[in-house]
Amino acid sequence: MACENGGFVIPDTRMPTPFRIAPSILSADFARLGEEVRNVIHAGADWIHFDVMDNHYVPNLTFGPMVCQALKPHARTADGRPVPIDVHLMIAPVDALAGAFIDAGADLVSFHPDASTHVHRSVQAIKARGCQAGLTFNPAQPLDVLDWVIDDIDLILIMSVNPGFGGQGFIDSALRKIEQARKRIEASGKDIRLEVDGGIKADNIRRVADAGADTFVAGSAIFGKPDYKAVIDAMRAALA
Ligand code: DX5
Ligand code: ZN
Repeated sequence: MACENGGFVIPDTRMPTPFRIAPSILSADFARLGEEVRNVIHAGADWIHFDVMDNHYVPNLTFGPMVCQALKPHARTADGRPVPIDVHLMIAPVDALAGAFIDAGADLVSFHPDASTHVHRSVQAIKARGCQAGLTFNPAQPLDVLDWVIDDIDLILIMSVNPGFGGQGFIDSALRKIEQARKRIEASGKDIRLEVDGGIKADNIRRVADAGADTFVAGSAIFGKPDYKAVIDAMRAALA
């Protein structure tokens, strides 16, 4: 993107790239989490994806608000720019802990609508705290709830694996759901991010983008390799 000024073309550095890569620290080395966050930001991460699991909504257990708070100072670029922490709640119930994560520095909080008895209220509670709110859809779940809350949210997160574990294979039907979600976003006229989570790698990210996604979670594909920058660069090259 560039803007004209008196015959000179000035690069418009305000225009962010439309795509965001959000490494999931679920696949990072938990013994060195702060360093892992810094390293993956240095390698080009746009967001840090923070997977919260409760051994109730999903059959796995990860980390809570205290870990988010501890990582917050590490979520910055070398020149001090804050990097958003993208909290993906796989917990039920949602409300009490959503607030705790916002207090701990979350920039976005997404939850699964089937994990909240009152989805609209949960969204409003997140927004009222000045945080961005997202809704997350499991592979076998329809998008119908968006009929009633799309105007209130900032993010739609499509699961392309069943939630609970990293390193699973991409479920192809997610592509159709991404297309449907993109149509809903366009119809809404709202500025809503469309994020996809699970099984994303450099060799399938283009297909996922072509279906309409603009934000890509990747855990094992990045943290499973020694050179994080090489993986993120390969993803960006596939998206270019
Ligand atoms: C799964 C998590 C994902 C997970 C993705 O429940 O929500 O964020 O870390 O891992 P990969 O990229 O390895 O499929
Ligand atoms: Zn996730």
